[in-house]
Amino acid sequence: MTPPQQLTLAVAGATGVVGQHVVTHARAAGHTVVPVSRGTGQDVVTGAGLAAALDGADAVIDVTSVVTTRTRESVDFFTRATEQLLAAERAAGIGHHVALSIVGIDGEPSGYYAGKVAQERLVAAGPVPWTLLRATQFHEFAAQLVRRAAVGPFVVVPAVRVATVAADEVADALVQLATGGPRGRVADLGGPAEAELADLVRRYLAATGQRRRALRVPLPGAAGRRMRDGRLVPGPDADRGRVTFDEWLGGLGPAR
Ligand SMILES: NC(=O)c1ccc[n+]([C@@H]2O[C@H](COP(=O)([O-])OP(=O)(O)OC[C@H]3O[C@@H](n4cnc5c(N)ncnc54)[C@H](OP(=O)(O)O)[C@@H]3O)[C@@H](O)[C@H]2O)c1
Repeated sequence: MTPPQQLTLAVAGATGVVGQHVVTHARAAGHTVVPVSRGTGQDVVTGAGLAAALDGADAVIDVTSVVTTRTRESVDFFTRATEQLLAAERAAGIGHHVALSIVGIDGEPSGYYAGKVAQERLVAAGPVPWTLLRATQFHEFAAQLVRRAAVGPFVVVPAVRVATVAADEVADALVQLATGGPRGRVADLGGPAEAELADLVRRYLAATGQRRRALRVPLPGAAGRRMRDGRLVPGPDADRGRVTFDEWLGGLGPAR
């Protein structure tokens, strides 16, 4: 039997929601992990610390993010981060850049998704062979929204159809992709079921014993209509995770 290939994987965004799972899966598979984040001394926006961190890595998995809904801030972050990472990878002779994007963002001109569009373009046109996985919102997105969009006793939730997936399953897919060769854009990864995001947030609040109320707010304009109509839900060719939202909820402790 051929022994599994053991690689050195740099994980940019290693401390984030999906990044932590990427680190766990990579280590469980016997790979050496180099965590990259401001918390570990590197900055993908300024490039500080990247050359030293990426030295000797076989592949980079980029799961960095910025918390914003502002177009300029998102585009600036993902542009700078991708340019800095790709330049450092090229200088270090790394032959595989693995990026994570979001299902259904094609041509989105504004907000957070505009930054992801910019990131995808740079990766595809960049100097490092690449693989790009688009995933749906994570089950954990319900918790991220509660942390970020709570206003007093309310959580403001955009009206959007989603098919959330466990971040753990996305991370597993990213590690498997990183250990193979560059494949360009691969099949989208979505969760097992479609739902209204506000309903998931309500279920999350109830399961974690929080008294806040989720307010479903339709976003204005064509982009808002596309989200309500299911643009962020993957098509029939997508791969599907198996862990349901309720199974994920069942694994949480109180007030997480
Ligand atoms: N959340 C979702 O539902 C979802 C769904 C599909 C795809 N995605 C994509 O998945 C990726 C990760 O999302 P997430 O929700 O897991 O993110 P997250 O929890 O917000 O984590 C972001 C990570 O990026 C790091 N980071 C931020 N700024 C940095 C900088 N200047 N230099 C170095 N590291 C930096 C953070 O660490 P430090 O703060 O320590 O620097 C952290 O490790 C994003 O690209 C997102 O678009 C997310």
